[in-house]
Amino acid sequence: MIIQQERISLKHLLTVEALTDQEVMGLIRRGQEFKNGAKWTPEKEQYFATNLFFENSTRTHKSFDVAEKKLGIEVIEFDASTSSVQKGETLYDTVLTMSALGVDVAVIRHGDENYYDDLIQSKTIQCGIINGGDGSGQHPTQCLLDLMTIYEEFGRFEGLKVAIVGDITHSRVAKSNMQMLKRLGAQVFFSGPAQWYDEEFEVYGHYLPLDELVGEVDVMMMLRVQHERHDGNESFSKEEYHQQYGLTVGRAKKMKEGAIIMHPAPVNRDVELADSLVEGYQARIIQQMTNGVFVRMAILEAVLAGRA
Ligand code: CP
Repeated sequence: MIIQQERISLKHLLTVEALTDQEVMGLIRRGQEFKNGAKWTPEKEQYFATNLFFENSTRTHKSFDVAEKKLGIEVIEFDASTSSVQKGETLYDTVLTMSALGVDVAVIRHGDENYYDDLIQSKTIQCGIINGGDGSGQHPTQCLLDLMTIYEEFGRFEGLKVAIVGDITHSRVAKSNMQMLKRLGAQVFFSGPAQWYDEEFEVYGHYLPLDELVGEVDVMMMLRVQHERHDGNESFSKEEYHQQYGLTVGRAKKMKEGAIIMHPAPVNRDVELADSLVEGYQARIIQQMTNGVFVRMAILEAVLAGRA
């Protein structure tokens, strides 16, 4: 007998905090089903999606493109640099226009935190919104692909020890992940430069020096140094950062057997992570990118079900 899990239905996906545990697990399991070849049964003959990226992206943008195409959704191309954004069109008016054209779902990445507030309060914008990253705020789809990768590896979250290391203050990935990992029962630790750590993170876990953590945790989640969000006065060279806060080859040798290395990418090789570790046997960075397609198929399915 094949037991089909109940389909998740979401109006939008803006933060992970807004999801119930059941929705999180449902999206992960549906991502796994898509990875294993499951097909989507759409309620309408034709759906339109648009990917509105106002900040640079390779993985999020292109994996949404692939996910949409795998589901048979028509993708309406958008390039901010050649659109009416250059004539002063606001984000609200861009999304309003896409909605008026009949777009069902808009994936948006924007530099402003909570950019979506007035979009979801609008009575005229009809399309679902999926947050592809809002400034240093949240990155819910990255969090879900990270969770899918951890679940695929360990089959659980309860009791796992996860270290989040690096430029935590500026990382929307870190914020989404610390919230959801703690909620799902993982023990979260932090490490990295003190100036990129905030006491508000203590609600989710504790700060420890990297050399105390590396042999203890199941997951080493390394973060990109976000040069574009700094004011240009970083106090260490790439080499100094790598030696003090990076996962060097020497540190990786001290990791527990079965422990894995994750990174949302793009990786600054030989800064957060030694170049040779990126595609090494402990790393799951390629699986993270692959899983991104499947979990985003699950998210698109859920948001389109929420519009039905
Ligand atoms: N991890 C991530 O968000 O990568 P991109 O910036 O390339 O989308």
